[in-house]
This record gives sequence, structure tokens and C-alpha cells, in this order.
Amino acid sequence: MRLLLPTFLIGAVCASAQTNTADTYLASESPIAKTGLLANIGSSGAKSQGAKPGIVIASPSHSNPDYLFTWTRDSALVFQAIIDQFTLGIDTSLRSQVDNFVASQKIIQQVSNPSGSVSSGGLGEPKFNIDQTAFTGAWGRPQRDGPALRANALITWANFLISQSNTSYVANTLWPIIKLDLDYVASFWNQSTFDLWEEVNSSSFFTTAVQHRSLRQGAALATAIGQTSVASGYTTQAANLLCFLQSYWNAAGYMTANTGGGRSGKDANTVLASIHTFDPAAGCDAVTFQPCSDRALANLVTYVNAFRSIYTINSGIATNVGVATGRYPEDGYMGGNPWYLTTLAVAEQLYDALSVWKQQGTLSVTAVSQPFFAALSPGISIGAYPSSTSTYTTLTAAVKNFADSFIAVVAKYTPSGGGLAEQYSRSNGAPVSAVDLTWSYAALLTTLGAREGVVPVSWGAKGLTVPSTCERGGGGGGGTVAVTFKVQATTTFGENIYVTGSVDALVNWSPDNALILSAATYPIWSITINLPASTSIEYKYIRKFNGAITWESDPNRKFTTPAAGSFTLNDSWK
Ligand code: NOJ
Ligand code: NOJ
Repeated sequence: MRLLLPTFLIGAVCASAQTNTADTYLASESPIAKTGLLANIGSSGAKSQGAKPGIVIASPSHSNPDYLFTWTRDSALVFQAIIDQFTLGIDTSLRSQVDNFVASQKIIQQVSNPSGSVSSGGLGEPKFNIDQTAFTGAWGRPQRDGPALRANALITWANFLISQSNTSYVANTLWPIIKLDLDYVASFWNQSTFDLWEEVNSSSFFTTAVQHRSLRQGAALATAIGQTSVASGYTTQAANLLCFLQSYWNAAGYMTANTGGGRSGKDANTVLASIHTFDPAAGCDAVTFQPCSDRALANLVTYVNAFRSIYTINSGIATNVGVATGRYPEDGYMGGNPWYLTTLAVAEQLYDALSVWKQQGTLSVTAVSQPFFAALSPGISIGAYPSSTSTYTTLTAAVKNFADSFIAVVAKYTPSGGGLAEQYSRSNGAPVSAVDLTWSYAALLTTLGAREGVVPVSWGAKGLTVPSTCERGGGGGGGTVAVTFKVQATTTFGENIYVTGSVDALVNWSPDNALILSAATYPIWSITINLPASTSIEYKYIRKFNGAITWESDPNRKFTTPAAGSFTLNDSWK
């Protein structure tokens, strides 16, 4: 039965055009996405012939591109979505899929591959053949987000089973699988990795963020099953990861996606990090880059705007309306097009934000997030707006419409039949690259859930604080001193200052992995790093701008660390 509204109310409650489009599209697309997703899971999925049980194929496309492989990242994200749907009671028919996934990952973890064996780095291998044998061709390896994402999905599953009093299955069957992945993260988080797009070998925000989540919730699970010393090791490295996570923020007000790669750093990497580390208990915390945090919103608008002028299909669209977005603006893969899953991620972040504002009953505009809100509500002032205020109502309605307008973009460029490929053409919106991308279908389903107010279970992000010094040595902490590097350097917009030098903690003279300094006190750039005590150290600052690296002039800078305590270097760019 429908309620008839008095005419004077209709204007106030009537949905916008984007909202109507999103409603209609999602109603017809979600069953297609669910069917498409399940078709890509072996062994009985309609499009997964040859895949073992629980193995997710990235896409049935077997040439141009050949995606008939199983990627650890794609599989883990797909199963995170399935596990969330099952454990939140949205679809209780998925139990055997989850059991198959567990069994398949237990096997695949043990398969020796070009990245190593299970105990020597093999868990960082990005993809396998769908019959669970190693893929031995050339590839961007290792990719260290995979084990973390798989641990996150399996920990969600383990926590659910513990709540159902099935602790013995968790301790005996799940924990050994999860622990292998967590131990991998704890040992290798500080080493360079290919990013989630398999192109840049450096440190990567998405990877650091999901690694941080994995060790944080891994420590809680270890504690729950009585593994307290394992838990404390994970907690130590989680603190280091949280520290490192902060260093990607740059002076221009967005997260630089990768420490290497020589690009603008504006990248869906960061939006995906926010939605895949969403913790509704953490409020709008910026330290963990929560979807409604000021940093994540400022970052989002910067990311979105990077695509407004580069794709033909975005021309003429007003700045308060959603557009097609891709991996990163410099992308050239398959012509460098928008992706369905990245455009959906923008909407998902905004729906997550709306859920938290609603739950908190308030929304804040800070100096950092003002550019985001001003794009939707010109002239908006900094302030906290409780839900009783008209500003709260106006802003949340604008955010909802903005989110729905990204769904409308995806709707417009979904072909008849509803199949979601990887990309859609920047010039005319037609599907491009791998057909029926499993990850695209998962993204559609998680975005729809977020829009309906579904929130994941908390993973422990609430109330975390960043340690005052950052340990990048991957362990220990004994015999180190906290050294603050300060350098006065004038830079142009988009340019950043980094440091590298002669010891591990200074990434051994690697310009690609050099450590980014904070511009919080510009023109003084600074970073605090734990360095070995009583050691003679050489270093230099470098600048990176649009891919170009500039070293300071010779000779190297040199100093000896004290035996204990802390130390500050006051330098000036040379
Ligand atoms: C295949 C990878 O999957 C894709 O992410 C990348 O852009 C291309 N290779 C080009 O490196
Ligand atoms: C290329 C994407 O860049 C990468 O993230 C993904 O894992 C593979 N395709 C498989 O879908």
C-alpha cells in the first residue's frame, strides 16, 4: 500500500531524478550482479568451467585481456562481500560458498610460485591458475595486499563463527590459514610491493591500509582464542603501520596513492582503501581514513575532479554532479577508461559516510573537508551541524544526491542485459576490457548495501591514536633513537619532499621508496624516524614532481646518531 502525501509535502520528500534513476537501476541490476558474481566461482559457477571449488575467476574473458586466472585480491574482496552478506543475514544461502573458499585458500597458500614458498614470501603472489597451480609467467610481483585482504575476509568469518560458539573450528581450521597471512603481513609490510593495479613497485596506501586493518583485527582474534603473545606482536606492527599510513597525506590535501610511480597520486586506490577499512564504530576518524573523515572527503573530491576534464563522456557535467571515474587520471591501460568498480566506490564511500552521520546525529565541516562540502553547497561554513539543523538536512540531502548521481553514471553506461565489464569507454561509455568482471559485480552489491544503510561489523578502528614516533624497521625498537628530519624547502603545488639514506630505516638510498615528509609546518618539511643508535648515517632529501625526481646537490649529508634519546636535524634544501 502506498501512502498518499498532501501536495505541499511532495516537493520536500520527492526524490531527485538521480535518486529515481538509482532506485530503478539498482532494483534491476542487483539480481544480475548476484548471478554474475556466482557464475564466476568454481566449480559449479556457470562461467567458471575448470575452476576448482571456491576459486573465483577474475572474469571469463580468455583473451584481450586474459583474465581467466584467480587473483588473491579480487577473490578476497569478492568473498568479503559474500561473507558480509551471509553473516549479516542478507543472504543465508551462501554458506557452502564460504566453506569452499576456505578450503581453496588453504590449498593455494601452500602452492610454491615465483614469489616463493609458503614460508618464504609465496603468499605475496598476485594470481594463480584456476586449477590451483602456480602461474609462472612474468608479472608485477609480489602484491602484498592479497594476504591482508584474505585475512580480513576470513577474520570476519571467524568472528561470526565465534559468536555462534563454533570456536573450535576457528581455532583448529581457520586460525592456521589466517595466521599464515598475518605473519606474512607482520614480516613484510615494510617492504616494497606492486600496487593493487599491478604497475607501481613502491609503498602503496591501499596496501598499507588493508594491512593495518588485518593486523589490528588479527590481534583481537588471536586474543580471543588465547594466542596472547602472537596478538602482541601483531599489535606492535599494527601501530607501526598506522604511523606509516599517515605519511601518505600530502600538503595539497589528498592521499598520495603510491610512494613511487611518478604520478599525481590521485587514485581510486585511496577511495577503495576507505571503503574497505570502513568501521562504523570509528565515527569520522581521519587517522584511519574513515569514509566520513575530513581527509577522506577532501581526498574524494580531488580524486573525482581529476576525471572531469579528461574523459569526453564527462564534458558539460556540473561540478556538483557525479562523473565517470577511473583508476587514476594518467592511466593508459586498454585506452585508460573509467571503471565501473571505481565509479561505484565513490558512491559507496558517500553512503558509508551518510550512515555514520545519521548514527552520530551530527556532521562536521572542517577546514580540511570544506572544499568537498563547498562543491555541493557553495559558501558552506566550517562548523558542527547537529541533525536538528537545516544545514545538516541540506548537506546530507546533497551528499545523497551526489552519491546517487554516480550510480546514475554507471546506470547510463551499463549495456542492455546488465553485464558489467571492467571498464567503459571514456569517449562513448561502451563496455571495454574484460567482460563480467567479478569485482565489478561485487562492487555493485556492496554499494547497494551501503546505500540501504547496511554497515559492516567493527574491526577495531575506534579510538586509535598514532604513536609519537614511527618505527619502520619492521620490528624491535631496541637500540634506536628518534631522529626528526626538518628541512626548509620551497615547493610548487603538487611537489613533495622525501628523504632517503644509507640505512634500512632510510630505505637504503631508494628514490622510489624514499620517505615522504609532512608539510604541516611548510616551508619546513619534517618526518620523525627511528634510526639505529650510535651509527654514522648519510642521507639526502629529494623532491618529486610529476614523476621527476630531483636530488639535493653533493656531497651527501652526514651525521652520527646519539646513543639514546632523540635528535633533530635542521636542514635547508641544497
Ligand atoms: C595487467 C594488469 O592487470 C593491469 O592492472 C595493468 O594496468 C596492465 N597489466 C598494464 O601493466
Ligand atoms: C587488473 C587490475 O588492475 C587488478 O587490480 C586486478 O586484480 C586484475 N585486473 C584482475 O581483475
